Amino acid sequence: MTPIPRSLLPDNSEIVGGRLFIGGMDVLELAARFETPLFVYDEEQMRSRCREAVSAFGEGVAYATKAFMTTAMAKLAYEERMRLDVATGGELFVALNAGVPADRLVLHGNNKSVGELAAALDAGVGQIVIDSFVEIDRIEALVEAGAPPPRVLVRLTPGIEAHTHEYLQTGIADTKFGFGLTSGEASAAVARIEASTAMTLEGVHAHIGSQVFDADSYRRAVDVLAGFVVPLDLPEFSIGGGLGVAYVTGEEAPSITEWADIVVRACRDAGIDSRVTAEPGRSIVAGAAVTLYTVGTIKDIPGIRTYVAVDGGMSDNPRPSLYGSGYEAFLPRATDADRPMKVRIVGKHCESGDVIVAEADVPEDLAVGDVLATPVTGAYGHSMGSNYNMIRRPPVVFVRDGMAREVVRREAYEDLVLRDV
Ligand code: LLP
Repeated sequence: MTPIPRSLLPDNSEIVGGRLFIGGMDVLELAARFETPLFVYDEEQMRSRCREAVSAFGEGVAYATKAFMTTAMAKLAYEERMRLDVATGGELFVALNAGVPADRLVLHGNNKSVGELAAALDAGVGQIVIDSFVEIDRIEALVEAGAPPPRVLVRLTPGIEAHTHEYLQTGIADTKFGFGLTSGEASAAVARIEASTAMTLEGVHAHIGSQVFDADSYRRAVDVLAGFVVPLDLPEFSIGGGLGVAYVTGEEAPSITEWADIVVRACRDAGIDSRVTAEPGRSIVAGAAVTLYTVGTIKDIPGIRTYVAVDGGMSDNPRPSLYGSGYEAFLPRATDADRPMKVRIVGKHCESGDVIVAEADVPEDLAVGDVLATPVTGAYGHSMGSNYNMIRRPPVVFVRDGMAREVVRREAYEDLVLRDV
């Protein structure tokens, strides 16, 4: 009903005569110039979130690239002095190819292949987060064959439930990630790593889940981990990522600084005096972006609902169909307009589950041809995008100080057959 809350728009937004400007750029002009669908990122907001993370946790803090990864983003996070968490050979490649020094990278993954581990050791990555006994065997074999021994963290699962979507939970006991505390696996892993000459144990890591609003979940995780971590007396303790962000009206999330304060205080209270680090992804990038679409068709089904179809869909934002995630929508030509009409915003894929906003509030005069925006789409949209239905993936534009730079171009039809042999 009410206008889109300002708090859901990027930091450097301005509304001039109803029209939305981000980073000094008229959003409707961007839509005309780059066409839709289009991801528009407030570059200064991402830089400022990186700086906040570094000042809250120190330079050990890593940006979780899975949330949003492009060459420009890898450079940005590195320039702002974050390390980069890469979880696959692909993320490792993009980071190195962007010029990020290997010692600023942390390699994650529950099933790192021999090839991925060899590439990481060869490049000299800063740390590897050990996730399984098989991985220890693989690293030992590679080091025996001449690779340099890595510095490592060991990933623990504290066995607590964070309040988030089941698929986004990772710290519980029934999980594919890490070594369980309660099962005794964690002690066995630490003993093996400490006895190995093929790696140096620098600390422990735990990631309890993603889109976590309740800072208390982190305090509980720290409390559970402390009994194990304190006697080890290692230099580093990483709490992983997972800080939630507000996606819709009425949601509120702690800031990165508040999160860090809570985590660090919980560690000190529990007797962990290691360097405390973290790996935020979503909280760095989610709120910085809006996705722009063009309304293509409007279908009113009397007594049922109105469907508003846009020119993208689950290929640029799979989160609603995967997790039932909620988003808001608004018209950048009338950013502060009331939104009294309820509609379902859908994409153009051949699938009923192709929903962008299941229950969207929109202005009454929304019409075919309008540019429609969904805010808070900077995390896990572009990075989880697909070519379903041979849809071309959208370009990414960074805006800042009245300038727009395209950092990813729109996919061309020819790109769709590039790998076909
Ligand atoms: N560190 C580790 C070990 C992780 O597994 C993750 C996320 C992060 C850091 C970053 O978490 P963040 O701060 O972004 O919450 N596709 C889902 C989210 C999956 C997160 C997976 N791991 C979504 O769209 O909500």
